[in-house]
Amino acid sequence: MPDVANRTIVLTGATGFLGAFLMAGLLERGYHVTVLGRSSKHMRLADRLSQLLRRFNLGEAEEQLSALEADFFKKYLGLDAETYGSLCEVARKIVLCASNTSFAERNRAQVLAANVDSLHSLLELAADANAEHLCYVSTAYAAGKCEGICMEAPITAASFTNVYEESKAKAERITTRFCAERGVPFSILRPSVVYGHSQTGIALKFNALYYPIKSLLYVRDICIKDILEQGGKRSRQWGISLGADGVLKLPLTIHLAKGGSVNLIPIDYFVETALHIMERPGVGRIYHITSNHPPDMATLVDYSERFLGVQGIRVSSWDPSAPKTASNPAQELLDRLLEQYRPYLSDRRTFDRSCTEELAPGLSAPPFTYDLFERCMAYAVACDWGQENRLP
Ligand SMILES: NC(=O)c1ccc[n+]([C@@H]2O[C@H](COP(=O)([O-])OP(=O)(O)OC[C@H]3O[C@@H](n4cnc5c(N)ncnc54)[C@H](OP(=O)(O)O)[C@@H]3O)[C@@H](O)[C@H]2O)c1
Repeated sequence: MPDVANRTIVLTGATGFLGAFLMAGLLERGYHVTVLGRSSKHMRLADRLSQLLRRFNLGEAEEQLSALEADFFKKYLGLDAETYGSLCEVARKIVLCASNTSFAERNRAQVLAANVDSLHSLLELAADANAEHLCYVSTAYAAGKCEGICMEAPITAASFTNVYEESKAKAERITTRFCAERGVPFSILRPSVVYGHSQTGIALKFNALYYPIKSLLYVRDICIKDILEQGGKRSRQWGISLGADGVLKLPLTIHLAKGGSVNLIPIDYFVETALHIMERPGVGRIYHITSNHPPDMATLVDYSERFLGVQGIRVSSWDPSAPKTASNPAQELLDRLLEQYRPYLSDRRTFDRSCTEELAPGLSAPPFTYDLFERCMAYAVACDWGQENRLP
């Protein structure tokens, strides 16, 4: 095996969903991983990482891992000269996976700070270390508001669905410009919506795909409680009833501006493809890590109904400019819960994957079957949507 520096990857975002799985994948392949991150309210970074290793059954890989508490907003990452110098010696390959993934406009300042401002010190590290390669983890949705085919090319959109997309597009531009000017070889990875592991169902974060299902489950449980414990008067008024077979008739509508699909990939496909790209990167290239067969909303509604034991949910077209007239509080609640995800539920765009397929031929997202969906949702429910640190 080549020396440690040659097998070291400097990684940010390792305490997050994609970063943690990437860290585990790297350790499994024998890499040394130096994580740049921060402590949480109650735990040092090193302890957070040890906890993650235990969740991945990788406790024995601890010696391949170094934790470095860094402040991305400070020059030299807030490290003293000696520590920064040592980091530069091993930082031949750097993967930037840290991000604030909030879509909420009220978080605009924090999202832009975390995703754009914090980049400068990390990019300087790549230049100071004379890094062989820098990999920036972006998102397929950095493409912004556009139609048709999104190419594996620099972003041209001028408007975005939310501040998260906007910040990732800005970060891509800054990374591209910096790396071109300072001679740092780089790649940009653009995954679409990532859900749990296709074989085990394990995930670490339960937004995106999970959030609408969690929302429906929440509404379902309120109705069942009303029927079983409070006589069900309110539910009857809303046309909601519980059949003798235990299936809840839940006449709810998912209002979408247009028909479309949701581009979903499992975390294991993301990791496998990302590792493949990191080991054979093309310089200055952009890679869509997306699915060629995204499920449409009818499929997702069918899967959700089967999983939740409900019937009666329908998808209907909706004019965003029309006044909102929710027919009952359950519908009103669902509308509110789905609001920020609505644009991603009716996407008609496709993602060109020429670069990814050239570099990682034969690797593709598995078909989004009911079994896979059920496995991932069962895991999410069992760990109470991430509230419990459930081990596999
Ligand atoms: N999840 C998806 O479906 C998806 C899809 C496409 C692209 N992506 C991209 O994949 C990457 C990872 O996303 P994720 O879903 O794994 O996110 P996540 O679970 O929310 O994790 C975010 C990570 O970034 C770190 N971070 C955020 N702000 C930071 C700051 N100011 N300083 C230091 N660390 C900071 C977090 O550290 P703490 O734990 O200390 O907060 C955490 O490790 C992001 O670049 C995202 O844009 C994700």
